[in-house]
Amino acid sequence: MSLHKLFTFLKYTFLKKELPSYFYKKNKYNPEEHPNIYVGMLKDFKNQIFVEEQALKLKGKWGEVFENKSLPIDLEIGCGNGTFFEYLAKTNPDRNFLGIEYKYKPLVQTIRRLKKAGLTNGCGIRFNAKDIDDIFAPSEINNIYIYFPDPWPKRKHEKNRLVRASFLNMLFKIQSQKGFIDFKTDSESYFDFVCAQVKNTSYKVQRHTRNLHQSEWARDNFITQFENIFIRQNLPTYYMRLVK
Ligand SMILES: C[S@@+](CC[C@H](N)C(=O)[O-])C[C@H]1O[C@@H](n2cnc3c(N)ncnc32)[C@H](O)[C@@H]1O
Repeated sequence: MSLHKLFTFLKYTFLKKELPSYFYKKNKYNPEEHPNIYVGMLKDFKNQIFVEEQALKLKGKWGEVFENKSLPIDLEIGCGNGTFFEYLAKTNPDRNFLGIEYKYKPLVQTIRRLKKAGLTNGCGIRFNAKDIDDIFAPSEINNIYIYFPDPWPKRKHEKNRLVRASFLNMLFKIQSQKGFIDFKTDSESYFDFVCAQVKNTSYKVQRHTRNLHQSEWARDNFITQFENIFIRQNLPTYYMRLVK
């Protein structure tokens, strides 16, 4: 057992937390043998997509994966097919971006988009964000975007929601003093849930609206792939910005 694995095992046992999925991986992952065709495509993006094993080793060193290593790093959690991620990278050439996604297909789509647009300031990470503090060092990240995370609307599934006090406390640790978290959802119950959870963190709510498209922030809002689906269903977008 490597030192990192032993440390992880002891840390999670001490915290009485479920061990992260990467802990159980027995065989080294082999893209060529994997049945998911998008895993096979990872080799075409080897300088722009990082899988779990690589991500763990890059903790505290993410600047090194970018062409311009000294730029601040922002993060999108659950970047989906990457329409917003591409917009961020294109409109902010003075920043670097990391997108975390645990599904291979949207992750490959995201980075393929960036490559096609000739953008080198964005990279993707295949990782389950619930263990995010295993791949980032304190203050390594600036702004964080979490748009339309899976809502888990049924009460019995509420425990699966990613954005909760314990997760926000992890983000607080990895985020620099100047950074913000932008959170959008179509789910009223998830929004209310997060509003309540924020009270058990050190974050302050700077922006808050139950109808983003009718608010003062509508003009600067980029409509993501999922946001568009909900707009077509006449559903409002709930939005908040948290700051340290
Ligand atoms: C509903 S989609 C939203 C995609 C995009 N943000 C948008 O607004 O169009 C949620 C995305 O988050 C990803 N996701 C959900 N939970 C995750 C987790 N724990 N770690 C990493 N990605 C996650 C899903 O695979 C999916 O692509």
